[in-house]
Amino acid sequence: MPDVSRVWQRPFFVRTVGSSYEWAMQRPRVAAGFGRVVMGADVGRIYRAMAVVAEMPDGTDILDVPCGGGAVISRIRPGQRVRYVGVDVSAAMLDRARARYGDVELVKASIDRMPFADNEFDLCLCFNGLHCVPDPGAAVAEMARCLRPGGRLLGEFAVRGQLARSDAYMSVLRAAGAFGPAGTIRDARRWFTEAGLALDALDCTGAIAHFDARLRE
Ligand SMILES: C[S@@+](CC[C@H](N)C(=O)[O-])C[C@H]1O[C@@H](n2cnc3c(N)ncnc32)[C@H](O)[C@@H]1O
Repeated sequence: MPDVSRVWQRPFFVRTVGSSYEWAMQRPRVAAGFGRVVMGADVGRIYRAMAVVAEMPDGTDILDVPCGGGAVISRIRPGQRVRYVGVDVSAAMLDRARARYGDVELVKASIDRMPFADNEFDLCLCFNGLHCVPDPGAAVAEMARCLRPGGRLLGEFAVRGQLARSDAYMSVLRAAGAFGPAGTIRDARRWFTEAGLALDALDCTGAIAHFDARLRE
């Protein structure tokens, strides 16, 4: 299986696959049609969940990983005074984010080894990320380490074992190096629990799982 994190660092991959993904995400109707047909999912829920950024009060410390080209960064309200840090392993994806959102702190690092102190953030966002990393369990543990007690980890990812057609699609993307091993909803429950997170929500629309968890105090 190709190393997904290396693949996402290739400029040609980012110019083709990365930019096609962003193109679709910037067009909610395209993403909704694709999500329904391929993943059996209501993709609208992803956009609704991203809106949490704008609800955060001034002074909140927010970590967005993997931030990619900045789909979630775009949800910061004008005038909102938060510390917002975007992390991604791919310099090419970070360049795309920087071109649009130059005033946000952007850091090149792997999700399973981030250069932050323990308990540094109030909120960690992980959208469409856990299926794109080599070890989702290690990624969840590292995000939990960076959260303050009571801090929130929220996001969405593609899960295996929900629908035959989405499993087939994910196998193709895994072979191409765009996806990592991902996991089932049962695997996900284990990742969160082992990381010391209490789940307020973990449920699927089709093959897309939504999670909302808190680091135990
Ligand atoms: C599908 S994009 C999602 C980006 C963004 N959250 C969004 O919703 O548009 C997946 C991202 O995962 C990043 N990625 C892959 N492996 C990673 C790793 N080990 N650590 C951090 N980011 C990684 C890729 O570079 C890519 O930007």
